[in-house]
Amino acid sequence: MADLSTPATAAPLTGLRRAVSVPTVRPRRLRRSGPIRDLVAETLLLPQHLIYPLFVADHLVEARPVPSMPGVQQLPVWMLEEVVTEVVTLGVRSFLLFGVLGDDTPKDPHGHRAADGEGPVANALRLLRARFGAEVVLIADTCLCGYTDHGHCGPVAEGTGEILNDDALAHLAAAAVAQAQAGADFVAPSDMMDGRTRALREALDDANLSHVGVIPYSVKYASSFYGPFRDAAHSAPQFGDRRTYQMDVRNTREAVRELRLDIEEGADALIIKPGLPCLDIIARARQSTDLPVIAYSVSGEYSMVEAAAANGWLDAPAVHREMALSLRRAGADALITYAAPLLARQSRALLGLG
Ligand code: PBG
Repeated sequence: MADLSTPATAAPLTGLRRAVSVPTVRPRRLRRSGPIRDLVAETLLLPQHLIYPLFVADHLVEARPVPSMPGVQQLPVWMLEEVVTEVVTLGVRSFLLFGVLGDDTPKDPHGHRAADGEGPVANALRLLRARFGAEVVLIADTCLCGYTDHGHCGPVAEGTGEILNDDALAHLAAAAVAQAQAGADFVAPSDMMDGRTRALREALDDANLSHVGVIPYSVKYASSFYGPFRDAAHSAPQFGDRRTYQMDVRNTREAVRELRLDIEEGADALIIKPGLPCLDIIARARQSTDLPVIAYSVSGEYSMVEAAAANGWLDAPAVHREMALSLRRAGADALITYAAPLLARQSRALLGLG
């Protein structure tokens, strides 16, 4: 154990033209031991801050690992109870649900199946709500890209290939209502169509679902970090990219504008993604709104760490923790992360909860 009572002694100096002045202000005093560092730590990471994404794939008979995301699996509905029970035992109580359709389930240009009351997400929501009641927070990702045959987040105009904003809204709203009816606490539109927060809020209210909240992906950059997710959710665009609806990585003021619009349109909390590339935006959002800010540490961030760790180049648990703490430090209230179970185990061990 370090002996904190021994004062440090300076070695005699030679060869310098003048004596080095001795500091009187010493920030290192607050770093001398683990308990001192804990005493003055400014940022806390607890299991309750974490949201764990689940890929629900009803067509599967057993879990299927996602090759580009080590440790992440597509899950059939019947396995959810077991997985969620394990994660809840670690203190993580919030889940973000994505639906995955099997190859033989037809997709269509409008993504009608996103609003299927018998689809994977609706089935999962009903089961988890029945089994866990108000013990868990269930957030449904609301988007069309996993359900459209072209993989875009809205219908595509014939000829021009434009992604049709206003046509998407009705389909997104129908999906949100189906998810809310199946038991979602929150719907999280990730499409980046203009006006979707208001469209979803109004649709939910009209369907007597005013207790269900809307948590839009308010700032969502057209990021290359989503690659592994598109393997997991079978949602890659079949042509072009998402840059006419997701945000330009070069912009900050645009992010502030998107946040403001979502607040005006009735958002209950705001998601910012990707995570680590957006620390500036998270800090900015924290200053400009009192709504909860949620950072999404996306698939590419997770996979980068796992891939480096598989090569022996990084210590994955330590890096995942540092990333999560950095997002919290920047101002995020909650984090969506594939490392949630790992982070929860670490936090419990640090708190002596075993
Ligand atoms: C669907 C959606 C995406 C992600 C969340 N919802 C993919 C995309 O926009 O292409 C990315 C999540 C991740 O990378 O972990 N629109």
